[in-house]
Amino acid sequence: MKRIGSLLIFVAALSACGADTEGKDKFGITLYKFDDTFISSVRSAMEDHNKDKAFLNFADGQSQQPTQNDSIDTFIVEGYDGLGVNMVDRTAASVIIGKAKEADIPIVFFNREPTAKDMNSWDKLYYVGAKAEESGRIQGEILAKYFKENPKADKNGDGILQYVMLTGEPGHQDAILRTEHSVKALKNAGLSVQQLATDTGMWQRVNGQEKMAAWLSAYGDDIEAVLANNDDMALGAIEALKAQNYFQGDKMMPVLGVDASAPAIDSLKEGFLYATVLNDSVGQGSAVLDILTELQKETPDLSSLPHTFTDTKYVWIPYVPVTQDNYKDFMKK
Ligand code: GAL
Repeated sequence: MKRIGSLLIFVAALSACGADTEGKDKFGITLYKFDDTFISSVRSAMEDHNKDKAFLNFADGQSQQPTQNDSIDTFIVEGYDGLGVNMVDRTAASVIIGKAKEADIPIVFFNREPTAKDMNSWDKLYYVGAKAEESGRIQGEILAKYFKENPKADKNGDGILQYVMLTGEPGHQDAILRTEHSVKALKNAGLSVQQLATDTGMWQRVNGQEKMAAWLSAYGDDIEAVLANNDDMALGAIEALKAQNYFQGDKMMPVLGVDASAPAIDSLKEGFLYATVLNDSVGQGSAVLDILTELQKETPDLSSLPHTFTDTKYVWIPYVPVTQDNYKDFMKK
């Protein structure tokens, strides 16, 4: 194990030597996995916002916490100036915090929120994210409006909205809160609701498609709406629906996601996805870099940044509803 560890450090050292780091701040950014649509967009946003100012080194956590911990070790040995951490397991941040604290390297966590206890264990810890309950509420409000304005949406005419729910990774704050608050918003709007089925799709399109195909065989036309904790799973569900001739004639199904990813906006444009909620990758990626950069100054002044800090260490980037009315504003320029 030790030998592999040293080899990794050696390889990373070589690549850092080859890169032009001269005089630049060096930030090590570790992502829970590279292969995630939204996280990839956060990475691109960071690269765009950075414009080569700092030296950024991205590490793939490959959904393995030990792999991510190894990357942190490498960044520390290499004398990086700051760490951006998208935890694999958000409950396991204390190990990483301990290492960073010992080396006095600040950490900005993002997207996967460590526990409050961990966040309060050192003053050089920050978190950039979005209030997941807000995205759930927005989804629920959009669906409630649709259901009220379209009497035919209640296909069996029983006055109850029968829905299926595709959830994200178990334990992820966004999965838990989006699920809870989307349903809460439907109820707050005065609707009676019934969940026909729910399962985790682990944020992935292929799982959304498989679950939806199974639910269509089990419940068919009893399903009146599909709520998905993110766009990839919503788009998977849409594939399964298309295979059953939905979205033709008046065979409609409202499918709602979160993220406003590029493929989701295309799907909205083509009339498949009913709505999504912008999870602002540009806002989040920029805030992470802005904080890391400010902390390098002799006397950092976070209040000089265009971000609002809650409890001195949290930056919350707002969600925005995206529907047929405004999707054009969110198309990549
Ligand atoms: C969520 C996002 C998902 C997935 C997840 C990863 O905020 O909506 O699509 O990227 O983060 O942690």
